[in-house]
Amino acid sequence: MKFRGAEYRLGRLEYDRGRGECPDGTTGFLLHLHIPSGAPLSPASCDESLGQARRFYGRHFPDEPLSYVVCHSWLLDPQLIEYLPERSNIVRFLRRFALRPLTSGDEDLADGSMLEYVFGQPSRTGPVTARQLAELPQGTSLQRAYVAHLRSGRNWRARTGWIALPARPESD
Ligand SMILES: CC(C)(COP(=O)(O)OP(=O)(O)OC[C@H]1O[C@@H](n2cnc3c(N)ncnc32)[C@H](O)[C@@H]1OP(=O)(O)O)[C@@H](O)C(=O)NCCC(=O)NCCS
Repeated sequence: MKFRGAEYRLGRLEYDRGRGECPDGTTGFLLHLHIPSGAPLSPASCDESLGQARRFYGRHFPDEPLSYVVCHSWLLDPQLIEYLPERSNIVRFLRRFALRPLTSGDEDLADGSMLEYVFGQPSRTGPVTARQLAELPQGTSLQRAYVAHLRSGRNWRARTGWIALPARPESD
């Protein structure tokens, strides 16, 4: 069974409650994490938001003991590590997560949706053509990575990952 509650913005990140698969294969309460566009995804802002989320949901939904935050996003594609420096916010963000292994037939290609997130263009479902790639701006290292990756014949994927929430201290 799955259910969704309201979505809350807590600092840099957004969350909604759910019930779903945990990394060990069991089903439990968890928070779905969303990354709105806007300010840089600094590690400090993520730490602060995750702490706020644990306190907020612990206080308002005490009957739903949370162990994990789960996220599904192109930002968790570990192929990004091949292009972006370790100090980049995106790489430091994705390294927080334990990724769900890829299974054949369960791939969520992100080539089309990343057009929106990385270039501000409409998302598309079909393949991105060589002609479209040639017209994309190349102003940032991520934009260059996107194009170089597709030109090499590979694809971007949205991946699912979990972050274990720290246990609640007594004082919370
Ligand atoms: C998440 C986000 C804030 C990360 O930005 P950030 O904190 O600046 O990321 P980094 O520090 O890792 O950036 C590394 C490089 O990628 C570039 N970059 C990061 N996000 C970018 C984006 N959305 N579009 C274009 N370039 C981007 C940066 O400018 C930087 O380039 P540089 O090396 O040439 O200076 C940003 O990607 C964003 O707003 N995304 C839209 C929201 C989104 O995708 N949500 C997930 C939906 S599933």
